Amino acid sequence: MTEIIEKKRDKYALSKKEIEFFVAGVTDRSIPDYQISALLMAIVLNGMNRQETLLLTDAMAKSGDMLDLSALPHTADKHSTGGVGDKTSLIAVPAAAALGCTVAKMSGRGLGFTGGTVDKLEAIAGYRTAVSAEEFKETAKRQGICIVGQSGDFAPADKRLYALRDVTATVNSIPLIASSIMSKKLAAGAETIVLDVKYGSGAFMKTPEEAESLAREMVEIGRGAGRKTAALITDMNSPLGLAVGNALEVTEAANVLKGNGPEDLRRISVLLAARMYQLSFGVSEEESLSAAERVISDGSALKKLCGAVEAMGGDSKLITGEHEFPAAGARLEVYAESGGYITSVNCENIGKAASLTGAGRERLEDRLDYSAGIILNKKYGDYTEKGERLAVLYGAKERLRDAAQELLSAFEIGADKPPESRLVYKIIC
Ligand code: URA
Repeated sequence: MTEIIEKKRDKYALSKKEIEFFVAGVTDRSIPDYQISALLMAIVLNGMNRQETLLLTDAMAKSGDMLDLSALPHTADKHSTGGVGDKTSLIAVPAAAALGCTVAKMSGRGLGFTGGTVDKLEAIAGYRTAVSAEEFKETAKRQGICIVGQSGDFAPADKRLYALRDVTATVNSIPLIASSIMSKKLAAGAETIVLDVKYGSGAFMKTPEEAESLAREMVEIGRGAGRKTAALITDMNSPLGLAVGNALEVTEAANVLKGNGPEDLRRISVLLAARMYQLSFGVSEEESLSAAERVISDGSALKKLCGAVEAMGGDSKLITGEHEFPAAGARLEVYAESGGYITSVNCENIGKAASLTGAGRERLEDRLDYSAGIILNKKYGDYTEKGERLAVLYGAKERLRDAAQELLSAFEIGADKPPESRLVYKIIC
């Protein structure tokens, strides 16, 4: 291990054998934390070439369970690098399933200021997010769609590396982020992978250029592993849609599937579903876009989501709107302290405000209030009068004052109309 660290310190590329030795030692714990951390820092400082990144991803993917989905037709997966108000999975996944893709998706929970699909699904009464690999595959085969939390032991090498990176200032490295995300995606088994790489105040990557480098690396890793892979690079300088918080986001996603709902959310979801369909079936971009629009407007994507919810024991009437989600304990309106244009909405502060209402967790063991969260009335670029409503907060009464302060700190209001934001920066395909 010392020789491997020296080699990377001196800017040499590591061989397949060295990378496999490293990942095996991370997984079986024969390499101590201090040596792993030293190599991680050398990688942050001196980088990895594409071949090394591919080898590292492959070894991490194979460090634990690998799901075999080869018996299922047109398997497709999507992954977002994380954001605030990002409920695109609840729209794009059923839309792709309605187009004939099999989407067997393992999603994550939110942590800190970002949300996670599993938490949103658990807001639906009865929905089971922890199922066996057999039930997961069987449901995907029968319904064309199954969304659950991670079960089994996927990419255990990444679990250990990620925990160490978090405390050794070695998260921020494109080869390390790309291999971390893609090792889990490769282990999850789908033949098509569509990535939504976010940039901005609510994302890991702060600029579109950084997001593009990460996206290109991940697309090359996917292709190198024989998967059909594409990436959208999208803006996370504003929350997607107007709802942040679990039940509120499920309702907003269902509204999009009923032909209503905010345009930014609808657009990104259509692009993601279309790309999953395009790569899976080899149709043209134009055809895939109109097909994705069609399955949303004719209600077939909504039907797929209801089927997916019922298959996991959830109450699909919460999706159709025949039943209502339990109401929050209290609501609090937040008003603009000055008039003008909204020149910036700091997504991280919005995510933190949502957490303070009870919609998110600061520690993994925190319990969520599924009815808590935020409905925004104003977004980036909108005009507001002083005293006009910016948002409504929902949650337990005693939590809402602090959340309101945090929310207000997210808004910057100025005299000049800010430039139009660009929702999609680029598509790498
Ligand atoms: N998400 C991951 O899974 N890994 C990273 O390194 C960054 C984001």
